[in-house]
Amino acid sequence: VDELIAEGVSGRRVLLRADLNVPLDDSTGDPVITDDGRIRASLPTLQALREAGARVVVAAHLGRPKGEPDPRFSLAPVAARLSELLGAPVPLATDTAGSGARAAVEALGDRDVCLLENVRFEAAETSKDDDARGALADRFAALADVYVDDAFGAVHRKHASVYDVATRLPHAAGRLVATELDVLTRLTEDPQRPYVVVLGGSKVSDKLAVIEAMLPKVDKLLVGGGMCFTFLAAQGHGVGGSLLESDQVETCRRLLAEAGDKIVLPVDVVCAEALVADAQVTVTPVDAIPDGLKGLDVGPRTVELFGEHLADARTVFWNGPMGVFELAPFTAGTRGVATAVAAVDGLSVVGGGDSAAAVRQLGLPEDGYGHISTGGGASLEFLEGRELPGLAVLSGGAG
Ligand code: 3PG
Repeated sequence: VDELIAEGVSGRRVLLRADLNVPLDDSTGDPVITDDGRIRASLPTLQALREAGARVVVAAHLGRPKGEPDPRFSLAPVAARLSELLGAPVPLATDTAGSGARAAVEALGDRDVCLLENVRFEAAETSKDDDARGALADRFAALADVYVDDAFGAVHRKHASVYDVATRLPHAAGRLVATELDVLTRLTEDPQRPYVVVLGGSKVSDKLAVIEAMLPKVDKLLVGGGMCFTFLAAQGHGVGGSLLESDQVETCRRLLAEAGDKIVLPVDVVCAEALVADAQVTVTPVDAIPDGLKGLDVGPRTVELFGEHLADARTVFWNGPMGVFELAPFTAGTRGVATAVAAVDGLSVVGGGDSAAAVRQLGLPEDGYGHISTGGGASLEFLEGRELPGLAVLSGGAG
């Protein structure tokens, strides 16, 4: 984007795709943003474009609405927060790429910003049909003179506002995308060793491809979170009522056999009967999880064990919470690992919406980390070595 700015964007309409997909709490009926990290991360590019006199049209998605307008997924709270952070009005268009969007763009003066309504209110945004996406991309392209992609968290999606629109307008990558790529490339190209990866989160099926791709490159892979139970089952342990993906047990068994001592699993877990804020918890070794209980966090001995591996590491990538950190009885594992990652003497990278949110929600200092990525799936697919459509299209490599 800096080259584009140097060429001059004053008075030009810039369509800026950002990842403003933030967690919302709408339990009170009035949605509240619980972590605005992604909005803040989008500010450097946005400010640079404004300072250069551009008319900025921001496009973004929120959640996974079903391809039609749905007030529960409106970007209204995001527009309000963005406006507060910028100290300037950010009107929200009444639609994504129709007459409301056109009116919002026409009303922009130099340095002004507007936000289009959730791009996923259009079914074509995520369609597998190239023509359908193309027709929507034409409507996006008509709103602007230039396209800037700063939505790192969405670059792994072949969506109209991420991929197709870039084929229709002069385009550039934003500053956030550039920073993310700089850091993640340091992990893939000759990381300082020991290189330790910590993976958590609930679904093991989401992580098997990245585990497979990373095993040859890392020195240790520490596995916690709900996904660890399928690995523990593969080792022959009973996991009680914990999360278990039975159809993945065989794959986990094969990975454990191939990994030798590279994969490190929890040695104890925090169990409870139910996932409630006032749960009575029991800490048990992993070979003694009682039948009626669910494992909902890693235990203290595991935090210590993971901490020992992390203390030696010179490069660390951490993705996924160690337990259900949103509830007080199950925060200690994630807090312990997050603290150990922050203490790493070397490059520490936190990847993923959930782990980044955990760092902030647990009140841990963000500056303890080398980098907190805004990409969950995107950073994992990058580390897997997959081609990311939203990046390939910017570098001209997309077919
Ligand atoms: C994310 O939250 O990882 C990105 O915003 C992408 O969202 P998606 O998984 O719904 O495409």
